[in-house]
Amino acid sequence: MPDNDFPPADVIALLQLLEREGIPVVIDGGWAVDALLGHQTRPHEDLDIAIRHSDAQRLRMVLEARGYSEIARPDTTAFNFVLGNPEGHLVDVHTYEFDAEGNHIDGLPYPPESLTGHGTIDGHRVRCITAEWLVQFHTEYEPDENDFRDVLALCRAFNIPPPAMFERFLQGFGPEPPQPSRSRANPTGDEAMIIRPTEPSDIDAIASVHSAAFGCNTEADLTLALLQDPTASPTLSLLATRDRHPVGHVLFSKASVADADARAYLLAPLAVIPAAQGQGVGAALIANGLSALAQSGVILVFVLGHPGYYTRHGFAPAFPLGYTPPFAIPEEHADAWMVQPLGVHTPAATGGVLCADAINREEYWRE
Ligand SMILES: CC(C)(COP(=O)(O)OP(=O)(O)OC[C@H]1O[C@@H](n2cnc3c(N)ncnc32)[C@H](O)[C@@H]1OP(=O)(O)O)[C@@H](O)C(=O)NCCC(=O)NCCS
Repeated sequence: MPDNDFPPADVIALLQLLEREGIPVVIDGGWAVDALLGHQTRPHEDLDIAIRHSDAQRLRMVLEARGYSEIARPDTTAFNFVLGNPEGHLVDVHTYEFDAEGNHIDGLPYPPESLTGHGTIDGHRVRCITAEWLVQFHTEYEPDENDFRDVLALCRAFNIPPPAMFERFLQGFGPEPPQPSRSRANPTGDEAMIIRPTEPSDIDAIASVHSAAFGCNTEADLTLALLQDPTASPTLSLLATRDRHPVGHVLFSKASVADADARAYLLAPLAVIPAAQGQGVGAALIANGLSALAQSGVILVFVLGHPGYYTRHGFAPAFPLGYTPPFAIPEEHADAWMVQPLGVHTPAATGGVLCADAINREEYWRE
């Protein structure tokens, strides 16, 4: 983390302070992206906020009383200024003003509907720019790699077509393995559900989730085998807990497409304990996993599973796109073999999909 990181707990403390002072805040910028995604994807050196211009004077007073002062910037205006404190926290303030009819009359020209988003930071519901407008705002200046990752993650999570100007970044997407940050997913409004990467000490919890969900040990054994399989590495293993009790787990293992230069992963297995099913745990595990994979440059994610479930999460039948599984699947179950492209373009399929050794056995490919 850089020295001037603005951590989530400090963001929430600042928002609560401004709320107590009667200053409504809408989060913009990188923190708005992470609020919408429901987890922190990278450190943020500042907190961008949009406030009414008529609140700007009061905001300055409140923050100056807590050690903030204006940081001179070449682009400073009455509507766009930065306040910083001795700890290195930077608040990038953007102001706007609408009349009673909602017409823009002063400050930055935020469309009123752009200010209506909601997200989650550190388990707290916050107001932020909507995903559609954040993507649009990113097209209004020359984007860097962080912008690309933000836009791609938003487009993927909110089913927004990526703007054409971001396509060139796909070429330079970095090859580092998936490393999601510890994250808090909150699809059901349940503050206590956390999704985090697993640790070696989670082995028993992982096995018990799969055994409970599937009613046998087959998937539990497969999961543990994949976690130890060097050909599956680096795996992405996410555990959902509620009140510290494990309720769900998903594993993504490394795969490849023969003759195609595309980073690919296989989603398997996914399990949610019976008592927690139907509450969005599976959806949150999938969304968190795909977001982390997309941000690490993975282009394709495959799954063999229930079409009715996975098509709700962005997967589509893979055979029509030319991807064949490691083992033959009966024709009547062909639509259980699915793929989700995480980039703008679906790479051309020139061969079958190869998976890690531990799951490269026919018995795992009978849907
Ligand atoms: C499948 C499973 C992972 C879903 O997790 P979950 O947390 O219950 O799922 P979510 O809460 O995100 O989604 C629930 C929705 O998916 C639907 N759904 C669940 N399983 C489904 C299936 N096999 N086919 C179609 N839809 C399905 C539910 O009916 C529910 O629909 P609703 O929102 O309209 O009420 C979980 O039920 C489970 O672990 N099942 C046993 C193991 C298993 O089958 N794993 C998947 C292997 S491919």
